[in-house]
Amino acid sequence: MKVTVVGAGAVGASCAEYIAIKNFASEVVLIDIKEGYAEGKAMDLMQCASLNGFDTKITGTTNDYAKTAGSQIAVITSGIPRKPGMTREELIGINAGIVKSVTQNLLKHSPETIIIVVSNPMDTMAYLAHKTTSIPKNRIIGMGGALDSARFKYRISEALGCPASDVDGMVIGGHSDTGMVPLINKAVRNSVLVSEYLSADRMTQIVEDTKVGGATLTKLLGTSAWYAPGAAVSALVQAIACDQKKMFPCSALLEGEYGLNDISIGVPCVLGKSGIERIVEIELGEEEKARLIESADGVRKTNDLLDSVI
Ligand code: 2OP
Repeated sequence: MKVTVVGAGAVGASCAEYIAIKNFASEVVLIDIKEGYAEGKAMDLMQCASLNGFDTKITGTTNDYAKTAGSQIAVITSGIPRKPGMTREELIGINAGIVKSVTQNLLKHSPETIIIVVSNPMDTMAYLAHKTTSIPKNRIIGMGGALDSARFKYRISEALGCPASDVDGMVIGGHSDTGMVPLINKAVRNSVLVSEYLSADRMTQIVEDTKVGGATLTKLLGTSAWYAPGAAVSALVQAIACDQKKMFPCSALLEGEYGLNDISIGVPCVLGKSGIERIVEIELGEEEKARLIESADGVRKTNDLLDSVI
């Protein structure tokens, strides 16, 4: 199993590290435009192999897409991250052109690859990949909901004083500070609704903290987060590589599901060897449906900017 990670920055390198440590891929190729950067990150990561017990071969290349040929999965993390106070949507001017050319370069050498888009504004970047390629929609996946759900579970576990592994919950909608839809009324701790344990105010606070989870970290770090984003995308890679049929909220191109068309936005998806194997239409409450429609309106507004930037 060969995986390419485009962008050897913090998110890309973390993703490569987690993939290697999970030891399900034979090869990970890190590619970056900065001279020697991907090669250096790959070598540093390979020097962990005997310590972390993995056999995955990690190599790096400076912008030579021939080295990515035959990748079954390709992760796009390239582009600029946001700075404190910025929204993800403000990155469109620079990142759209990068994502478009990266997608084309990847497909030139790996025409059958499954693409996972991480670069922000992610839902719009995933939509861009759909619109600028002719590959089947199940092979383009946007990673946002898996990360947002991990932050959601972290906030719930913090409120309950329990391990996050005791908690299950999902965030759907756009990967944006205002558009996320944490499904708090469905979240559970060991199959018991968290509403059994938490006040309405506390649950509202968890939803709000989840929505700005990325911005909170950007303020603390001075740049976007990387550990949880890297871990989240490595989980999607593993689900595809190992044909796990696991369900994650992913940005998927909708053609009528949830009453939405011609938009890529976070919805529950079953991931397996063919990428998005199925979009799962779960029952949403009226409030949840309204939030999802509102979120889609926000994503469409960003999508509408694409023509002016590429
Ligand atoms: C985040 O929320 C980078 O969008 C990513 O941290």
